[in-house]
Amino acid sequence: MPQFLCHTTAVSENKALRIDLDNRPPVAVFNIGGTFHVTDDTCTHEEASLSTGEFEDGIVECPLHAGCFDVATGEAVEPPAETPLRTYPVTIINGEIYVEFGD
Ligand code: FES
Repeated sequence: MPQFLCHTTAVSENKALRIDLDNRPPVAVFNIGGTFHVTDDTCTHEEASLSTGEFEDGIVECPLHAGCFDVATGEAVEPPAETPLRTYPVTIINGEIYVEFGD
């Protein structure tokens, strides 16, 4: 069942927002020019919050060791990040962002 994360207005264009959840690790909502993507917030390399990293052209740079991920696909595009980031299907309903975790 889709889970509500936040309103679209909470995430400015080309910015990210961390959402802490009761039932699972935090996720990050990214806004690429008005298109929203949701990934795990924690880097797959070590413990770092990706939503606090630099975010440009759909690529987030981890604030700890500068590994990079494509937030649309989760692909690790710059070492030391190697393991892809989990991404989640997004649904927008009346300006509200929902995700389907599927687990
Ligand atoms: Fe993210 Fe090391 S913790 S690249």
